[in-house]
Amino acid sequence: MPEAGSREEGRGPAGGYGAAEPRRSGRRGPSVVLGVSAGIAAYKACELLRLLTESGHHVRVVPTGEALRFVGEPTWAALSGNPVATGVWDSVHEVPHVRIGQGADLVVVAPATADVLARAACGLADDLLTNTLLTARCPVVFAPAMHTEMWEHPATRANVATLRRRGAIVIEPAVGRLTGADTGRGRLPDPGEIFEVCRRVLSGRRADLTGLRLVVSAGGTREAVDPVRFLGNRSSGLQGYALARTAVARGAQVTLVAANVTLPDPAGATLVRVESALELRDAVLEAVKESDAVVMAAAVADFRPAARSGSKIKKSSAEPEPIPLVKNPDILAELGERRREGNAPCPRVIVGFAAETDDVLANGRAKLARKGCDLLVVNQVGEGLAFGTPDNAAVVLGAEGERVEIPRGPKEDLADVVWDLVARRLA
Ligand code: CTP
Repeated sequence: MPEAGSREEGRGPAGGYGAAEPRRSGRRGPSVVLGVSAGIAAYKACELLRLLTESGHHVRVVPTGEALRFVGEPTWAALSGNPVATGVWDSVHEVPHVRIGQGADLVVVAPATADVLARAACGLADDLLTNTLLTARCPVVFAPAMHTEMWEHPATRANVATLRRRGAIVIEPAVGRLTGADTGRGRLPDPGEIFEVCRRVLSGRRADLTGLRLVVSAGGTREAVDPVRFLGNRSSGLQGYALARTAVARGAQVTLVAANVTLPDPAGATLVRVESALELRDAVLEAVKESDAVVMAAAVADFRPAARSGSKIKKSSAEPEPIPLVKNPDILAELGERRREGNAPCPRVIVGFAAETDDVLANGRAKLARKGCDLLVVNQVGEGLAFGTPDNAAVVLGAEGERVEIPRGPKEDLADVVWDLVARRLA
């Protein structure tokens, strides 16, 4: 693994993946090569293929020979509307072993087995897919899926590091049920989320965050009153998830600490689920030990009930009992404090969000100073603003007095601007 913040892993040398500017043919959507290798998750690639074709991408499926044991050639041909070959000896006059890779705007390999990662890392060219990977100069995304032991094996770790160093995006597998009764890391992420990574990569962003380890908190904490009730807030987690998704698509390794979010798990992010502010604090402090930057997008409850009733509070008395509250720790301020004191591992860049309903900028500036963070993303919240909507607008305030306006737009666009500012500080 690269050193924290190492830029060496990031750019992909000349001739590596993503070396050429993304090509676009004028008449049709982007050309995508979908590589499929021999894992049980090959059936999930059918859904990825559909998502790609239905959104206007021209897709050529290149399975390995063994992958066809899981899903047959007619399925790929019918769903893609294109011929399917696994070896280099079909339609030789079209020189497919070179042309398919050369003509692609994106190559995505899903699922990517340990074997295909190894062959790609070694530069082998023993079938059409590995030939394509050698001739592609466009961005390449690998979505690995395998048993946990294979993913964790030093050989696979080294192959993944090599591919990342060359500019490929290798997204972390999800944790969950594997083949048979096993569970663990190694599951192919949700096809819809792999599609989102492809969409972001095709939007023209480079894998410029490769080698960086980033922590994002998302959602809203719940502070238990009794077994059935809690104090909570309206945060949906959309902005935090957009931050995680965009960072993965730019090559970063992301830990996402999610408080009560019901959105699909973003592909490639390591998800830690929490409920309360205290749990969120523990998870964030653990995750930041080995990270380059943290973005606190979660809405953390400032107060929690002083005591949690063990049984449901009944409405037996005529007047409701007051619920005494105590203050929760301010996690963002604590991170700033730890960094100032320098006695605990702390990320180099700390970013906060500020949800304000009134005096947005003045409150934002005061908060930036109070919390000791590097950047504060200030947005106005309230009815129909920010919470639960796909769009957001914000002003980012920097500790050195910078001010960057982000006009209303998709939360992914706002996330990309935040990562641009973080990357500039880490460079
Ligand atoms: N935050 C935190 N811990 C808390 C409260 C907030 O880490 N106990 C973080 C949030 O994740 C966010 C930033 O601090 O990044 C600002 O949160 P916000 O709710 O806007 O501010 P508060 O600190 O709660 O201040 P106030 O309620 O006075 O606006």
